[in-house]
Amino acid sequence: MEKYVINGGKRLNGEVSIGGAKNAAVAIIPAVILADSPCRIENVPDISDVALIANILQGLGATIKNINKSSLYIDPTTIFTHIANYEQVKGMRASYYLLGALLGKYGKAEVAMPGGCNFGVRPVDLHIKAFEALGATHTLKNGVIKIKADKLVGGKIYLDVVSVGATMNAMLAAVKAEGYTEIENAAKEPHIVDLANFLNSMGANIKGAGTDTIKIRGVRSLKGTTYSIIPDQIEAGTYMVAAAATGGNVVVNNVIPRHLEVITAKLQEMGVSVEEYDEAVRVISDGKLKKCTIKTMPHPGFPTDMQPQFAAMLTIANGISVIHENVWENRFQYVSELARLGAKISVEGKVAFIEGVDHLEAAPVKATDLRAGAAMLIAGLCAKGTTEIENIGYVERGYENIVEKLRGLGADITKKRTMTTTQVVIA
Ligand code: EPZ
Repeated sequence: MEKYVINGGKRLNGEVSIGGAKNAAVAIIPAVILADSPCRIENVPDISDVALIANILQGLGATIKNINKSSLYIDPTTIFTHIANYEQVKGMRASYYLLGALLGKYGKAEVAMPGGCNFGVRPVDLHIKAFEALGATHTLKNGVIKIKADKLVGGKIYLDVVSVGATMNAMLAAVKAEGYTEIENAAKEPHIVDLANFLNSMGANIKGAGTDTIKIRGVRSLKGTTYSIIPDQIEAGTYMVAAAATGGNVVVNNVIPRHLEVITAKLQEMGVSVEEYDEAVRVISDGKLKKCTIKTMPHPGFPTDMQPQFAAMLTIANGISVIHENVWENRFQYVSELARLGAKISVEGKVAFIEGVDHLEAAPVKATDLRAGAAMLIAGLCAKGTTEIENIGYVERGYENIVEKLRGLGADITKKRTMTTTQVVIA
């Protein structure tokens, strides 16, 4: 097991470069299955979720090569099965995109129920509803979703809840379905638009991605393409918050400022200076932070994936801040870990009340999920003393080279191997 060890209290200064968007990459890589020839995917983040989804594709028979640190060559023509590896699939949430891609290409798919961060029930009923609207039938037995369609025919898909995953999966299944498909109440995140742009670069006919109605005309075949993934909005936001929380001065490079608007606005509301450039933002803070209220919503609202990071920063803001989590049923599990560092937070249902304290004190804590792990890092960077963070595998799923990037900004952070209980006993 490994842990992060952080000597906190240092202001972050300097420049950091953002990688490709995780939640775009884990959809675009399975989408390559739909092509009839190889694809080159660029600006792929170096994270374990990408490695896992690539391994799952290789398990199906796809040929995948690393062209360089951030580019993949993927040849889907060597795929020989529509049955994904059970153990691998249950290791991540985004494995459900294999359902849409395999169904769209072969008319059948067998994929285990997905895993992923645990903040409540994570149903896939809307994914199934979308597939059935296109003529598919499904069974769910022994933890495996089996889906098939003799012929996929375009239709109307209404998503009762705005769902990123169901919107993506509906697009994947519909791009080659005969006729016209309309996805209503669609999610509008930047990664939704990125997937649509990727599919269109292969010859799909998708209009309206980024609005709440996506219109698709099925095409007979999709060809291989070269495509570069957009920068990661949440990775960028995480470094912006780390700079603000430590009272630093940081330039975050390789971003699309438009994707960061709501994060920028909230930081400015807290008294933090944010300067926007063409492909970068600069965050300047004196460490005196005003309280604020946050209500997470689907894009273009405040992103739920930035909620834990802001919570960590608000523990040392002036006054009482309030966070309403409107997307997930239980995304405050990290609060008990922040309390170990001296944070004063109470949670009532889906609302957290955060009373700012003068400073946090270091303590051993653990990551309870991906973004909660990022929140622990931000808290550790601010806390006085040496904070140790366990369960860092969660963080490494979504943040490429985070120790190196934080050290490049002046953070005193290292990654250390921990002795397992057995090893300690033997020692
Ligand atoms: C994606 O999860 C992201 N994961 C999540 O990011 C993110 O928090 C979430 O979208 C919301 O933005 C990936 O893209 C891999 P949803 P997803 O379907 O697709 C309900 C991270 O930190 N729902 O948009 O699983 C659901 O319960 C991760 O990078 C149904 O009811 O989220 C939730 O309340 C964590 N039925 C709401 O919709 C369904 O069939 C939004 O979920 C599907 C979803």
